[in-house]
Amino acid sequence: MKVLCLCLGNICRSPAAEAVLRTKAALRGLDLSVDSAGTGNWHIGAPPDARMQRVARERGYDLSGLRGRQIVRADLKRFDLILAMDARNLADARAIGAGTARMERFLDLAGIGGDVPDPWFTGDFEGVLTLIERASDAILDDLSR
Ligand code: 4NP
Repeated sequence: MKVLCLCLGNICRSPAAEAVLRTKAALRGLDLSVDSAGTGNWHIGAPPDARMQRVARERGYDLSGLRGRQIVRADLKRFDLILAMDARNLADARAIGAGTARMERFLDLAGIGGDVPDPWFTGDFEGVLTLIERASDAILDDLSR
């Protein structure tokens, strides 16, 4: 199964979700291929935000090799599941066109509901990572059933 985590800049929330899902899936022995992208184009080729990288590294997730990219129309067919971090990301992905990927808001699929707050604006990188870890556990519970 191929999963794409999607946010606005692809330097805070979605790279963190990518690394958390990949790490947790591997720990469970689940065959999951995970990538991430942004709807915006400002950070194409850039590494994740240094604050996100630091908080993630403290919890065992290495984001240093990830680079920002923008979602493209082909992603809507290449992935089975697109996990949007907030309602705007979901609407923007749907506006790109038709595809075969199932598109869900990340926290909705996790049974938590709502948007993942953007730490680029809130500054709460710790809180966002905790939320992403909780949601990832719930989603992997669901996918392994
Ligand atoms: P992200 O956060 O969507 O979680 O990667 C953002 C990072 C950068 C910007 C917006 C959101 N920006 O406007 O540059």
